[in-house]
Amino acid sequence: MSFITTDVDLAVLALKEGTLVAIPTETVYGLAAHAKNEEAIKKIYQLKNRPLDHPVIMHVAENCDLGQWLSFIPDYAQRLMDHFWPGPLTLVMKTKPGTVSPLITGGQDTVAIRCPKHPIAQTILNQLGAPLVAPSANPFGKISPTTAKHVQQSFKHEELLIVDGGRCSVGIESTIISAVDPNHYQLLRAGLIGEKELQGVGASKGDCSNSTLKVPGKLERHYQPEKPLYCFEHLDALSSFCKQKTATVYVISFTKLPLANPQLAYQLPKEPTEAAFELYYQLRQADESNACCIAMELPPEEPCWQALRERLVKASYR
Ligand code: TXA
Ligand code: MG
Repeated sequence: MSFITTDVDLAVLALKEGTLVAIPTETVYGLAAHAKNEEAIKKIYQLKNRPLDHPVIMHVAENCDLGQWLSFIPDYAQRLMDHFWPGPLTLVMKTKPGTVSPLITGGQDTVAIRCPKHPIAQTILNQLGAPLVAPSANPFGKISPTTAKHVQQSFKHEELLIVDGGRCSVGIESTIISAVDPNHYQLLRAGLIGEKELQGVGASKGDCSNSTLKVPGKLERHYQPEKPLYCFEHLDALSSFCKQKTATVYVISFTKLPLANPQLAYQLPKEPTEAAFELYYQLRQADESNACCIAMELPPEEPCWQALRERLVKASYR
């Protein structure tokens, strides 16, 4: 049985000893290991059932010296970090050979780095005096947890220490960009910090047609709830789907569906940041209900909804 605590000192001690600890970040909870302890990092892959060639993000404290791991930081990347850190932006950059474990990089010459904003994550990083490797604290391919209880539900049979930092304020994973090219970034995973915000800080987008990078969001299935999730562009199609089903459907929509059972329906906010905060939380509510499946109205195909749409398409039942 896992153990939920608010004792940060206990968490730091456990991490120093090579134990895994689930920690809160502002995006989602992470399953953290000391970045210099390879045995601990291996345990992350085992616990998540994650393929070894799927690299993990290194989380750093504010004002940490990145020069110890990176061979080159492009000017635009520095501007982005100055502007958005601490916060939900991950940058993939070129490493100095031999400074970052291949268990973190997936054997590539790049590393993904993020400086989380959650005060508990920052306190732990500062007290530890080293970075933390932390993928989202869920079994591979499933929905990321946004509360300590959700982490516990994801790892029911493990003895895992979970630090409770409340509900994550962002609610979906960080934006990931590649900042390997000296002049242009590439978007690898959409998040709340969108292209408009990145370009607002003077970063320009490159052509990604001939990239050899392993692109995270390229997995066809990901972020999946336990129950089958069906997504619809239009409410009419969603309504007819519900009418055809003999068993109860859990409806998550932006527009109120008159026929939906109020106990088994949730109306998402029409603003992207607020909807992101609710998305995984509500999918978990749906999983806990006695509905046979989940039907969801997709947000419009607009840049500000890209992060949510991409996740929902991957989470859909096919
Ligand atoms: O918000 C977040 O980013 C959360 C919290 C816990 O910080 N973490 C998270 O980690 O979402 P994870 O492991 O679930 O997703 C990280 C993604 C993976 O899809 C991985 O492929 C990609 O980052 N990644 C890591 N290192 C990379 C690298 N060197 N090059 C390209 N992609 C990389
Ligand atoms: Mg994940």
